[in-house]
Amino acid sequence: MKRSFLLVALFLLTVAFSRADEGMWLPSLIKERIPDMQMKGFRLTAEDLYSINQACLKDAIVQFGSGCTGELISDKGLILTNHHCGYSYIQAHSSLEEDYLKDGFWAGNLSEELPNPGLTVKFLVRMDDVTGIINNELSDTMSEAERNAAIAKISHTIASEAVKGTHYSAKVEAMYYGNQFFLFVYEIYKDIRLVGAPPSSIGKFGGDTDNWMWPRHTGDFSIFRIYAGPGNKPAAYSKDNLPYKPKKFFSISVNGVNEGDFTLVYGFPGRTQEYLHSEAIRYVSEVSNPHKINLRGLRLGVQQKEMSNDRTVRIQYSSKNANVANAWKKWQGEAKGIKSLNIVLKRADYEKRFEKWAEEYPQYRGITGKLGELYKQTESCSFANDYYNEAIISNEILKFAEQIKGVLSKKGDFFTKSNSIASMAEKYYKDYYMPIDKQSFILLMKEYLKNVPEKFHPNLPGELSLENSVENIADYLFKNSALADKQKLHNYIHDSLMIVKLNQDPAFLMHEAFFSFHRNNVKPMLDSLNKEITILYRSYMRGQMEFEREKAFYPDANLTLRITYGKVSGYRPLDAVKYKHLSTIEGIMEKDNPEIFDYDIPQRLRDLYSDWNFGRWESNGTIPVCFIATNHTSGGNSGSPVINADGDLVGINFDRVWEGTMSDIAFNPDLCRNISLDIRYVLFIIDKFAGAGHLIDEMEIVK
Ligand code: ARG
Ligand code: ASP
Repeated sequence: MKRSFLLVALFLLTVAFSRADEGMWLPSLIKERIPDMQMKGFRLTAEDLYSINQACLKDAIVQFGSGCTGELISDKGLILTNHHCGYSYIQAHSSLEEDYLKDGFWAGNLSEELPNPGLTVKFLVRMDDVTGIINNELSDTMSEAERNAAIAKISHTIASEAVKGTHYSAKVEAMYYGNQFFLFVYEIYKDIRLVGAPPSSIGKFGGDTDNWMWPRHTGDFSIFRIYAGPGNKPAAYSKDNLPYKPKKFFSISVNGVNEGDFTLVYGFPGRTQEYLHSEAIRYVSEVSNPHKINLRGLRLGVQQKEMSNDRTVRIQYSSKNANVANAWKKWQGEAKGIKSLNIVLKRADYEKRFEKWAEEYPQYRGITGKLGELYKQTESCSFANDYYNEAIISNEILKFAEQIKGVLSKKGDFFTKSNSIASMAEKYYKDYYMPIDKQSFILLMKEYLKNVPEKFHPNLPGELSLENSVENIADYLFKNSALADKQKLHNYIHDSLMIVKLNQDPAFLMHEAFFSFHRNNVKPMLDSLNKEITILYRSYMRGQMEFEREKAFYPDANLTLRITYGKVSGYRPLDAVKYKHLSTIEGIMEKDNPEIFDYDIPQRLRDLYSDWNFGRWESNGTIPVCFIATNHTSGGNSGSPVINADGDLVGINFDRVWEGTMSDIAFNPDLCRNISLDIRYVLFIIDKFAGAGHLIDEMEIVK
């Protein structure tokens, strides 16, 4: 009796503690978490993290581009992010003669830093809870359409009032499935220049073989600089712009991390679905992921074959290939984790308990059953939608047709349109290799015809008809479409009959057939079911918060700034195996192999190692490279600062471990770990490998 009581108590205690590191908290509400954070070792205050009255750490963090995070590390606007976040920009500056992907890039001074058209960074100026203001405009008698319109209208008013008379931009975001609303005010800088990047053999060391895995040895960082116009304000690129003077930048600690140390990750996670219904999780892990993995695997096979045959093609497809491979691998880990941890059953069990509780709350009763039903009804459309995205629109030629159509459908005269198509085409063909597109098309289309039920096959005219053999369709399409051939499209662009000709182009016809079929036969059904699902989730979410009153809830990631805290910690991936928390340069040398592309390191790194030339970055006779911790991160957190208990920068977040990739749907404290680059490896590479000590001089390094 006593023993079982003890066991129960122990169980409850571990549940309470193990839940602890899960959560992506809103910075303006971080005060509520501070007691827990301080108990775990944090030595700063809520105001140090987020304040509207004084400079604070949020002012040293940016959303980098549209999907990553970066942090300021000098008073001259220097920012750190991941190599994979800077990758497409480094690639855009690369050619056979100057291959910065392969050889790295280091600007010797400000004038050598390279501008990146289109790249922006975004600071959060402030955020406010506007739930009350929005709820004032809503009533229980409104239809869903009326409700959405009212929310859109008042959100627009709130956002425009918030930025009146400033150069800021603002957006209202829904949290907890529309139960709460927050206003976010941003300042966006537009002149961002590339300062430095290691060669891919360091920045992408381990490539897709090691991606999403621990132990890891990837030097995944790159360096940029924010430039500002007059008055330190955002401005479009100009050679007269000056380095941005930040309100706040991180000081860097070279004391390193030990197992159990407090860590905090501050960044912009993109999308999580932590409150998802069991039926939706089943679809993701048992249907959607396996099919999408197969489709991407086919594309990767074609890309890899062609990339290994030709260096130009390798440069052209390096960034695309990394993107295709990244989700392909993540989905595998995710499906595996969901299965091995029995997440579907566990979630269904939770739903049962919820329903038992809801027996006394008519407003929540039966919700989970209805959600399950609705998800079953969406399955065939979701499946067709997955194939539309992964097997149709993923063909470059069809995607390009879609982009051109976008230009044609906009207002404007012939010249404006042909000019913008011309500039799109220039970018497109720089990285286009038709044989890859064609071979992928054949493989993807075969899978489409095999797996997607016939009622989802559109009618196509003549030679494009899906009744023909896929090889013949492909021959016809890639031989006759102007989009498959740079010169042909170029001729079209300067032809007064451009629009007529494009509208008869086989790629246009094929895109149109799939697109309009999708728009008329898949999307309406999917949208209307999703609308019902959304309405139910709003109640379900509210219900869950009442059901588990003692639990601290956090809203799903939605690309808004979040704080997650935890501790440095190894884990047990398998029976009898324990992973340590830290990897070192010894591991790079163990993996080093000139025969294997992913593991072939630069000779200079070998030399530094054999000469023991570690400089002041050495620790315990080695150079630490990566470490893992229990922070709850997601895609978009890449490049996020990892800080210690005193708020100093100790690492750059870049990935998660294989056994924990299901954390976007179900966080498991025993298996979910974020992977960070140890800042000492970054400094070692900048200083000793690249000889860019002038950058180190800009930084504030604390011991
Ligand atoms: N898995 C990391 C993330 O999701 C890194 C991806 C980049 N690396 C790669 N080999 N594709 O972004
Ligand atoms: N590698 C991811 C990113 O780019 C981070 C993650 O998914 O853990 O944001």
